[in-house]
Amino acid sequence: MAAAVGTRRRSSRSRSGGGMRMALLVVVVLAAAAALPASLAVTSPYVRPPPRATLSLLRDDDADDQTPQQVHVSMAGPDKMRVSWITDGDAPATVEYGTAPGQYTRSATGATTTYSYVRYHSGRIHHAVVGPLQPGTTYYYRCSGSTARDFSFRTPPATLPFKFVIVGDLGQTGWTDSTLKHVAAADYDALLLPGDLSYADFVQSRWDSFGRLVEPLASARPWMVTEGNHEVEKLPLLEPTPFKAYNARWRMPYDAPSAAGATPSGDNLYYSFDAAGGAVHVLMLGSYTDYAVGSTQRAWLQRDLAALDRARAAFVVALVHAPWYNSNEAHRGQGDAMRAAMEDLLYGTRVDAVFAGHVHAYERFARVYAGKEDPCGPVHVTVGDGGNREGLADKFVDPQPAISAFREASFGHGRLEVVNATHALWTWHRNDDDDPVVADQVWITSLAANPACNNRTNNKM
Ligand SMILES: *[C@@H]1O[C@H](CO)[C@@H](O)[C@H](O)[C@H]1NC(C)=O
Ligand SMILES: *[C@@H]1O[C@H](CO)[C@@H](O)[C@H](O)[C@H]1NC(C)=O
Ligand SMILES: [Fe+2]
Repeated sequence: MAAAVGTRRRSSRSRSGGGMRMALLVVVVLAAAAALPASLAVTSPYVRPPPRATLSLLRDDDADDQTPQQVHVSMAGPDKMRVSWITDGDAPATVEYGTAPGQYTRSATGATTTYSYVRYHSGRIHHAVVGPLQPGTTYYYRCSGSTARDFSFRTPPATLPFKFVIVGDLGQTGWTDSTLKHVAAADYDALLLPGDLSYADFVQSRWDSFGRLVEPLASARPWMVTEGNHEVEKLPLLEPTPFKAYNARWRMPYDAPSAAGATPSGDNLYYSFDAAGGAVHVLMLGSYTDYAVGSTQRAWLQRDLAALDRARAAFVVALVHAPWYNSNEAHRGQGDAMRAAMEDLLYGTRVDAVFAGHVHAYERFARVYAGKEDPCGPVHVTVGDGGNREGLADKFVDPQPAISAFREASFGHGRLEVVNATHALWTWHRNDDDDPVVADQVWITSLAANPACNNRTNNKM
């Protein structure tokens, strides 16, 4: 387990001073400890405010049917970005872009798709890949030749440090809005979402309102997502094809050529990509497609990890939807089958951390493998606390298992700042009413740099 640094908490009007001081003491003691004995496992005493209603995000009445909406961007290879957007009417899948506002010196044209779902017909969904691009650079762009709206994004850096925001189970409630405001205030390079995006739950127009809700952020920084159970949207007889909306709208770089370690998966439901010029390798795994031994996903994961050079990939992190470790009463055991199929592969490659969603709460585990604390296993973290309409999962198993280091049923988001080839700082920011508060913080050190975990001649274990 990595050594930890101090944790700070700010006061909230909903807590008593005594409980607050006690919590502070426990968290500081916890943060100072390198390994976490069972007696210091923390269940936070934070008292949450009540749930918030689903937002109503109507479309802009002034917009014509050529006006781009729901714009979002994603990484599409070492120096490329994919721009995705929707128009109500036919419009070219063209992105014009450049490094100065309003001066669009380059352009790229992609492809357009649509889908129908029962009686819903989507707008024209466009995806176009732009690049090659300079790293750490702001590009200005417009879509479908529309002069009505201009956008900009910043490309991620090609070297460390690299800052991720990680948050799952977003939905589109007042709490989502609060989470997104806190995320917007962070200076991050890319957002990772371990599944359950819109909570459209078969009502397709809610995918559109979700697209509008996240656009201010997702059009400006790459959003890298993988699927949760709410993305499946299969309806017996009526809609037998799963992931119709998700795959059409949130196209990820499963086929991107990669200069570094990422192996194309050929399936939008799982893929990997490199960040910081290959210093960070991110596995976006699929919890709702086949992952068993003998499956295409597992075979791809094996190839991807075998091709990985840990001398270059200082940090390897994985995202899944249903957590493999979980001491919440909600969704118990739902990640077990996937863990049984894939945990050995991740352990053998010395994956540094695994982030999950699904359980609407926050929980951080010690380094674990095969159900036990293990200094060469990944840190497992559940961040299914984006703010969806189902509310929080506030019942934890009692007593807290020794491997569970910190748990709290509040909405919030996480940040992973990979500082250099050996150190990454993980912080969890609770939505403390409407203020973001750092409620959990830990340094994660690279297992590739830990000789005790690499006692073979090369790292391909
Ligand atoms: C990496 O970052 C950590 C945390 O800031 C620091 O202690 C360490 O010295 C850094 N290592 C190098 C090689 O700069
Ligand atoms: C490497 O060493 C660690 C610590 O001594 C040990 O737990 C682990 O099993 C060893 N791994 C291999 C692959 O030999
Ligand atoms: Fe879920």
